[in-house]
Amino acid sequence: MPPHTAAQPDLVIREALLIDGTGASGLRGDLAVKDDRIVAMGDLATIKGGREISANGLALAPGFIDTHTHDDRALLSDPLLPCKISQGVTTVITGNCGISLAPLSITRYPPPPLDIIAREPEQFFPTFDQYLSALDRDPPALNAACQVGHTTLRAGAMDAFDRPATAGEIGAMRRVLETALEQGAIGMSTGLYYPPAKDAPTEEVIELAKPMRAYGGIHTTHMRDEASHLIRSVNETIAIGKASGVPVVISHHKASGTQNHGLVKDSLKLIDEARKSQALGLDVYPYVAASTMLDARRIAASSKIIVTWSKSMPEHAGQALDAIAKKLGCTMEQAVEKLVPAGAIYFMMSEDDVRHVLSYPHTMIGSDGLPHDQHPHPRLWGTFPRVLGHYVRDVKLFPLEEAVRRMTALPAAQFGLKDRGMLRPGAYADLVLFDPATIADTATFEKPKTPAAGIARVMVNGRTVWCDGAATGERPGRALRRGALGPMGGNMPLH
Ligand code: ZN
Ligand code: CU
Repeated sequence: MPPHTAAQPDLVIREALLIDGTGASGLRGDLAVKDDRIVAMGDLATIKGGREISANGLALAPGFIDTHTHDDRALLSDPLLPCKISQGVTTVITGNCGISLAPLSITRYPPPPLDIIAREPEQFFPTFDQYLSALDRDPPALNAACQVGHTTLRAGAMDAFDRPATAGEIGAMRRVLETALEQGAIGMSTGLYYPPAKDAPTEEVIELAKPMRAYGGIHTTHMRDEASHLIRSVNETIAIGKASGVPVVISHHKASGTQNHGLVKDSLKLIDEARKSQALGLDVYPYVAASTMLDARRIAASSKIIVTWSKSMPEHAGQALDAIAKKLGCTMEQAVEKLVPAGAIYFMMSEDDVRHVLSYPHTMIGSDGLPHDQHPHPRLWGTFPRVLGHYVRDVKLFPLEEAVRRMTALPAAQFGLKDRGMLRPGAYADLVLFDPATIADTATFEKPKTPAAGIARVMVNGRTVWCDGAATGERPGRALRRGALGPMGGNMPLH
């Protein structure tokens, strides 16, 4: 190693197309890294790095922020998380759709959809601090900012889910949530569509969202209905944001079921109007198929269903539900009963709608990938390269710089991730070097676990985690605490 002066950067990446995350046009230049930060950018001909890499004109962008994940346990069980770093993702937001690994102690099989993230009761953490400390002790390759799930809170406080929480139960959930926020949780998600939370009235959510205001917390939601009552659900979400004074993010925005296709045009108008008076965001994944727990309620609205895992009949993972029913000599509904607990992919959105939501300037990108599924939806491995390759380069839905902004600076601001999501001196060196001409998703519904093409190098906190098609084994990721986050976190009063 050459001797280091205090001012000498550890690394200079030369001749890159610097896409800074703000949406500004890419500029040819160099970028220098020292320790975990970017220290200089532009023409750095006079600076010599401890190490030098030529980018040969490839795009260098802030690492992508996956705004919607279920990586809570995968961060511990598969800490290199190749499905994410191979896409250029350097930070994940966890705890979405109402489900998180903490804070919860249970002794039974986790009630679905909690089993999307953990299928053993011992895999849950009684406190948020214990969960974040586990990440500190055994860090993953990328950063994580973690939410508390409302369904997780319900599972800890209620003996039955088919009713509103009592005042006493709301008080208990609120105390657990506040403690988690003090310990570093960034907010609370809901999954009001799902059985354990569908009987929670709007007021229950408002009562739990309210205290987050003082903590600078965020509320994200898998809404009650993404089908014929989509507009009603968006109105409910807006009302929760308004009554609680907390920023809200609508998860995986879509209209499910043929008869509802096109509804996102109205919902986006509604969102646009509400944004004038409150903090409201949304994310989307770039596919026409959804994926979650296997549920007979979705059969009618889906043109095709693929089973992704099954506890009782794992041999059927990857097969179509109608084919499984045929094999078993029963109806699809009866097959569901035999397969559950299980997961599935549902073809239920329209391509027009997906493009319409993707095109909305305030839409962030979130994979919603399910890392423990035996035969996962390809969004787990393909979301970010699919936007940049298919939708940006091939379909020309919007410019490259704009796509990068929606994956970096926009989510960093929305979730208050301090000094991330932008290329600038002083920001963390979370970086992705990729080829805009060849970047592509290779994961398909048939073969879903394959890494993206066109990603040359991925760095997290100044260290390379992915290079030339493989994980390096480095694990420089950090559990990002709310108190250590940006404007919505760090600058808010702590209790
Ligand atoms: Zn969801
Ligand atoms: Cu989700």
